[in-house]
Amino acid sequence: MNSKQGWRAGAVFLTVMFCLGMLWYLHVETYIPRSYIQVRALCTPGDVPAKAAVQISNYSRTHPVFLQLSDYFWVKNESKYGLPYGTKGSEDLLMKFLALTNRYHVPQEIDRLPCRRCVVVGNGHRLKNSSLGDTINKYDVVIRLNNAPVHNYEKDVGSKTTMRFFYPESADFDPQMDNNDDTLLVLVPFKPLDIQWMKIILNNEKRVRKGFWKMPPLIWEVTPHNIRILNPYYMEVTATKILGTLSDLQTSKKTKTSFQKPTTGMLAITFALHFCDMVDIAGFGYPSLSNKKEPIHYYEKVTLKSMAVSGHNITLEAVAIRNLLQNRLIHNLTYF
Ligand SMILES: *[C@@H]1O[C@H](CO)[C@@H](O)[C@H](O)[C@H]1NC(C)=O
Ligand SMILES: *[C@@H]1O[C@H](CO)[C@@H](O)[C@H](O)[C@H]1NC(C)=O
Ligand SMILES: *[C@@H]1O[C@H](CO)[C@@H](O)[C@H](O)[C@H]1NC(C)=O
Repeated sequence: MNSKQGWRAGAVFLTVMFCLGMLWYLHVETYIPRSYIQVRALCTPGDVPAKAAVQISNYSRTHPVFLQLSDYFWVKNESKYGLPYGTKGSEDLLMKFLALTNRYHVPQEIDRLPCRRCVVVGNGHRLKNSSLGDTINKYDVVIRLNNAPVHNYEKDVGSKTTMRFFYPESADFDPQMDNNDDTLLVLVPFKPLDIQWMKIILNNEKRVRKGFWKMPPLIWEVTPHNIRILNPYYMEVTATKILGTLSDLQTSKKTKTSFQKPTTGMLAITFALHFCDMVDIAGFGYPSLSNKKEPIHYYEKVTLKSMAVSGHNITLEAVAIRNLLQNRLIHNLTYF
């Protein structure tokens, strides 16, 4: 190599390093979409757990992800709280249900990944026209929420669904159309009736119509194979440590109505902080309060007005998400 080639190589090297530096700088300062950089190249094993251990007291990765029969058969796991924060009082129902499905494992291909790249896809209107579909499909684990449709929205939200978190009142999606064959349908039990509902569907027992705040589907084409129940531990951590409402939770027996339950989205982020090495989010956030016309979801015209009665504290959750973003535990593919 003569000196001219040496110079050129050096200049190219410096330019590349400068560009990479700029990308890194921009990436951490402004959360530019991951699509600009390879999603794959960014995963560092243990990155999120290390950061989460600092932020979340008693952080532990060893809790079972899904409830399993052995926790309720012979031994009854002691839980401090009832649903949705623990299983106290629901042990017998769980035993019957889990004997029926007896599935609790995480798919092997995810379990053995050295670095788990996860994206939690919120249902926010800001996903519309985002063209994030291809980026979202690149993650190892794509978590979707409630009835979020995929069919006809692939360009903006992707087509891969590793897990879908839902509860009966949010189950008005087509289990076939909006999921993949191997999608895990992860029931988030808010009340014992939610487990009962799932059992009735799987067993084709006589339907129960009372006790729901919205009529859940009565017919649902699913097999026990893909059904899991999320360990309420994550709901407890969300309420007590992520949202910091532990005192509310402890006094909630007296003032039941004053305590607002976490949203499925906030819960899914908490779960991802325990399960993944890299956690990205997309489609989180609501229109500003003054914006009465903008829909809140990418797939329907419902506006903020309807959220007023939802029983969630979205202001508190926005603060929590902003905190997680600022501390770089999570990154955002959209804006927040
Ligand atoms: C942490 O875990 C220990 C042992 O389970 C428990 O005694 C303690 O109260 C926990 N601390 C917090 C802040 O949750
Ligand atoms: C139930 O208790 C066993 C034994 O202490 C423990 O290994 C398991 O993680 C517990 N399950 C849940 C869901 O907390
Ligand atoms: C999305 O794109 C379509 C077609 O270009 C446009 O009509 C619509 O207003 C856009 N919606 C948003 C929310 O940007």
